[in-house]
Amino acid sequence: METKLWIVDNVGDIDTIYPQIEDAAKLLRENQVIAFPTETVYGLGANATSNIAVNKIFEAKGRPSDNPLIVHISEKKQLHDIVEVIPSVVDKLVEKFWPGPLTLILDKKNHGQTLSNKVTAELSTVAVRMPDHPIALALIKKSGLPIAAPSANTSGKPSPTLARHVQHDLNGKIAGIIDGGPTGVGLESTVLDCTGDIPVILRPGGVTKEQLEEVCGQVDVDKALLKEDEAPKSPGMKYTHYAPNAPLSIVKGNSEFIQELVSSQRQLGRKVGVMTTSENQDKYDADLILTCGSLSDLETVANQLYDTLRKFDEAGVDLIYSEAFPEDGIGQAIMNRLLKAAGHQVIIE
Ligand code: TXA
Ligand code: MG
Repeated sequence: METKLWIVDNVGDIDTIYPQIEDAAKLLRENQVIAFPTETVYGLGANATSNIAVNKIFEAKGRPSDNPLIVHISEKKQLHDIVEVIPSVVDKLVEKFWPGPLTLILDKKNHGQTLSNKVTAELSTVAVRMPDHPIALALIKKSGLPIAAPSANTSGKPSPTLARHVQHDLNGKIAGIIDGGPTGVGLESTVLDCTGDIPVILRPGGVTKEQLEEVCGQVDVDKALLKEDEAPKSPGMKYTHYAPNAPLSIVKGNSEFIQELVSSQRQLGRKVGVMTTSENQDKYDADLILTCGSLSDLETVANQLYDTLRKFDEAGVDLIYSEAFPEDGIGQAIMNRLLKAAGHQVIIE
């Protein structure tokens, strides 16, 4: 299949007519699959009410069918078509964080708009989010549909933060890609389970635990995120994710210790990559040294993490050592993704 590419910049008002977005929305209505930018990562969208359309997402990504998708909406009132009851805490969260990088898990409406069962992987709950990106909002609105959208990468690979990443993984497999430039946050949305008395973070992301607690008081974190051997409540969290081709190890130690590891591997003839920050980049001697932002501003690390992991693949290194990051604020999401990318391989000094 030929994959169309639309380049869209400077989108302002979502009610303005952009021919590229109209084209893409028409294809969504025809049950085709379209990649589009959001404020977190690029999404792979399809009509959430059609089994045929949703199946195409799973096929293009090679995604296991028991891993449910997030339904994306462009107006807060659409939530009423999808979920059964809206707890008062959810009203407050929506008011504060939507549009934005927060996905809410709620009980699915029984007699509402009929979502494809494949979106929710037959669960009684549904994940909903309103992305904070003018192209995403305009596309969803013009399609007139709720849009199911996972990240637009091949299953298991780092999520795409540039249209080029989507092209690399999915060219020829989907109907089109809207290139709206680099995404903002760079990591996926926070997934928050709101079906119980106390909200539970199933996946840390763009909205931090601290920010959520300001709105809803106590917020718990799914035990599986803290312990490796617990079964996760979010089906997607059990799969290998974000992994570069070369084995990646996270090193909790200083740069001298990391350099010793690098040197001993290089003596064995291996091509070694180091993932570091602008503060430490001059401290290493390796085959490829890539900085993924600044330690003093972890949002830059969130923004560049996936692109950096993909660059190690492009360079074809044999193994990668990464520095570890502090785990507060957005650092919690960074370390969650990095640990998964490393298959939990951590070396402690
Ligand atoms: O930032 C994002 O959320 C991006 C952009 C494109 O919006 N989307 C994204 O989708 O990251 P995906 O499919 O890559 O991740 C969705 C996560 C998975 O871990 C999935 O298991 C979980 O949300 N999820 C979806 N529905 C769920 C449900 N009903 N209960 C628990 N977890 C659910
Ligand atoms: Mg994903």
